[in-house]
Amino acid sequence: MAHRPISLPLVRGTASRQAHADLPEGTFEREMSKEGFFGPAAFFYHRHPPTGWSDFEGPLRPHAFDLVKINEAPDCPWSAPVILSNAHVEMRMWNLDRAMPDLARNGDGDQLLFIHKGAADLFCDFGHLRLRPGDYLVLPRGTIWRLEPDDVMSMLMIEATGAGFALPDKGLVGNHAIFDPAMLDAPDIDGAFLAQQSDSRETKVRIKSRKKISVATFPYNPLDAVGWHGDLSPVRVNVSAIRPLMSHRFHVPPSAHTTFVAPRFVVCTFAPRPFETDPGAIKVPFFHNNDDYDEVLFYHAGDFFSRDNIHAGMMTLHPAGFTHGPHPKALSRMLVQPKPATDEYAVMVDSRDPLDIAPAATGVEWSGYVDSWKAKESGT
Ligand SMILES: [Fe+2]
Repeated sequence: MAHRPISLPLVRGTASRQAHADLPEGTFEREMSKEGFFGPAAFFYHRHPPTGWSDFEGPLRPHAFDLVKINEAPDCPWSAPVILSNAHVEMRMWNLDRAMPDLARNGDGDQLLFIHKGAADLFCDFGHLRLRPGDYLVLPRGTIWRLEPDDVMSMLMIEATGAGFALPDKGLVGNHAIFDPAMLDAPDIDGAFLAQQSDSRETKVRIKSRKKISVATFPYNPLDAVGWHGDLSPVRVNVSAIRPLMSHRFHVPPSAHTTFVAPRFVVCTFAPRPFETDPGAIKVPFFHNNDDYDEVLFYHAGDFFSRDNIHAGMMTLHPAGFTHGPHPKALSRMLVQPKPATDEYAVMVDSRDPLDIAPAATGVEWSGYVDSWKAKESGT
């Protein structure tokens, strides 16, 4: 039987009737909503910032991890440290400073790589593809692949455990908005791919299946296809190809920036965009609890306009039910922004199920993050 949420539009007291705009003077808006930004929601107009706590105790806590401090650089992706995971998604941070000696194959789900730093050649069942910073690469479950980096690479790995990635339904704006599917690149059977086939040494394939590793050894290089056809292949899109949705009169919710969807989580991209210009529209993220989703943000590049004390390579986790919103310095620019546009690139993972924090993340955690919404700590 279809699940129909109870939805009763009401207005009580002094309130705006339009979300994220025309707030009663001197108030701070907080959204409480079902199903991320898609279900019934209530918008409160508070006299104080909803993150203005003087103390916060207990297990419900926001987290910030400085993944730049992870020094491990294993030459196999299945040895990269897990940062956050649950039954449906697994995130790892992988530094790679040399060519992978063995091939890799993920039998547990589609693998998304986000190239944070460095460039590389990808060789896989489907051919050769050159990778650069800002690339998202979707490797379908079962693809055999390896990387040859130019120098040190740093990658965020996101596995859709037991499932695959798809593109989102773009609704009113149609299939060619945000990025045209024609902007997706696929590997080629090119000269570089054919050339690597002449390396006929014994080759190992490290296969991850049900989180355990098996190794198949071939007396030749199994990346030996001379061609292929079909409608399944790895795809790549760079964040610079993203043309984000925005409205000059409405701060669009993060869901408008969805790049990939999996059954129990989504991957969104925050790319540079102009600030809203309508005087009544808020110009910063609105306070909210996101009561149904754990929210993860990985900061890739630029000036992270709503966050104080965050630098590229950090990751934050706001668990479901934790009220969050702009930090004090950003909040002071709620209605007037000094710059015409944001210049941040960040990757967001919104997970419908709670995420577990792995020891590698705990080891690089900034424990003071929960206090970062206090004005005195951010110097404003
Ligand atoms: Fe959020």
